[in-house]
Amino acid sequence: MEALARRLAKGAGKEENVSVTFKKAVDACLEDLLNCSGIAIGSPEYFGTMAGMIKDFFDRTYDAAQAQTIGLPYIVFVSAGNDGRGAITQIERIAAGYKWKKVQEAIRVVGVPTEEDFVGVEDLGHALAAGIDFGIF
Ligand SMILES: Cc1cc2nc3c(=O)[nH]c(=O)nc-3n(C[C@H](O)[C@H](O)[C@H](O)COP(=O)(O)O)c2cc1C
Repeated sequence: MEALARRLAKGAGKEENVSVTFKKAVDACLEDLLNCSGIAIGSPEYFGTMAGMIKDFFDRTYDAAQAQTIGLPYIVFVSAGNDGRGAITQIERIAAGYKWKKVQEAIRVVGVPTEEDFVGVEDLGHALAAGIDFGIF
């Protein structure tokens, strides 16, 4: 998961007018959310849903951030052993609660990521950053 996330951040970093903050969910805080122009949420699928610390980030920030982040562009990418759809569904459900805007379909990587998978997430990160840079979201 972390390798995929690093590659997504690399893609986002291609957009020179956009600065990228790369954090594990446990280290991400309310200020990060309030100060960003878009968010990429990566999670492994554990027990049919998102990793606990991703859920914890949502739990910690929802009340204070929801009204101020309406329309925030977001993307999701999930690393899974054999499925991944549960994690995507649950993350998107929470994002809908925040009223964030999904700007690309989620990427689901099943099994050990291939170079094609890494290129896919790199492109996804670049697309998010470019859309923010050009103001098209
Ligand atoms: C406790 C645990 C629960 C898991 N549950 C699922 C699951 O429900 N569905 C799935 O497709 N893979 C599941 N997996 C496999 C992981 O999603 C997969 O190995 C993922 O790439 C792990 O990323 P990580 O190595 O960064 O933690 C589980 C793995 C663990 C350790």
